[in-house]
Amino acid sequence: MADIKIPKHLAIILDGNGRWAKRRNLPRLMGHRAGLRKLEDMVRLVKREGIRYFSVYAFSTENWNRPVMEVTGLMRLFDYYLRRKVDEVKAEGARIRFCGRKDRIPDELRERMLWAEDYTKDEKILDFILCINYGGRAEILDAVNSIIAEKPQSPITEQDLRNHFYLPDVPDPDLIIRTSGELRLSNFWLWESAYSEYYFTDIHWPDFGEAELKKALADYAGRERRYGGLKS
Ligand code: FPP
Repeated sequence: MADIKIPKHLAIILDGNGRWAKRRNLPRLMGHRAGLRKLEDMVRLVKREGIRYFSVYAFSTENWNRPVMEVTGLMRLFDYYLRRKVDEVKAEGARIRFCGRKDRIPDELRERMLWAEDYTKDEKILDFILCINYGGRAEILDAVNSIIAEKPQSPITEQDLRNHFYLPDVPDPDLIIRTSGELRLSNFWLWESAYSEYYFTDIHWPDFGEAELKKALADYAGRERRYGGLKS
């Protein structure tokens, strides 16, 4: 087979669950449930493509502003996922990791998140990163504040910042996909996306399948990344 360029870190902004549901006259939470099922498939597909890091933007620091019922429903969905699906993820050789602020997360869910991370920590085929209560600005601020607390005198370097991000060992995303037609980053991987490639599609997240993933990866494989340099 030809040597296809595969992103080492694929990131997806899961957007459009609400619109998917609305189009079907269903409550928004049904859209999130469909989105979760799609995510379960995607972990397997992404692994099959040979991707090493897969991160998803599932809940942002701004999503707390949604109606209480939707926020509670999403937290329950995360909890359900951790109670029922972690074994399947582990069987795929995937390590579950969370990225984001741990405050505001209900205690019981936070405990379960810690448990899932520990339970899957030795899996080495894929790092499946769930960005929950994540915001790029919050991550940068948190890093700066912890550096200042440690060494108030020195000038802060890029490496200092990276060392204090939520997941310092995870490489920057090579490809960021956003579903559902919006053309923005919405505070996802703000620092880390400096040289990421973007792929936008109008398809709502619950409809994003294998064919779409392959299309995005083929598009990525055809791009030339120069990181500010000249054509090679
Ligand atoms: C954005 O669509 C989607 C979310 C804010 C939630 C995404 C969450 C899931 C797919 C469930 C994932 C489950 C786990 C365990 C991580 P939207 O509601 O903004 O859709 P809209 O823009 O059409 O209203």
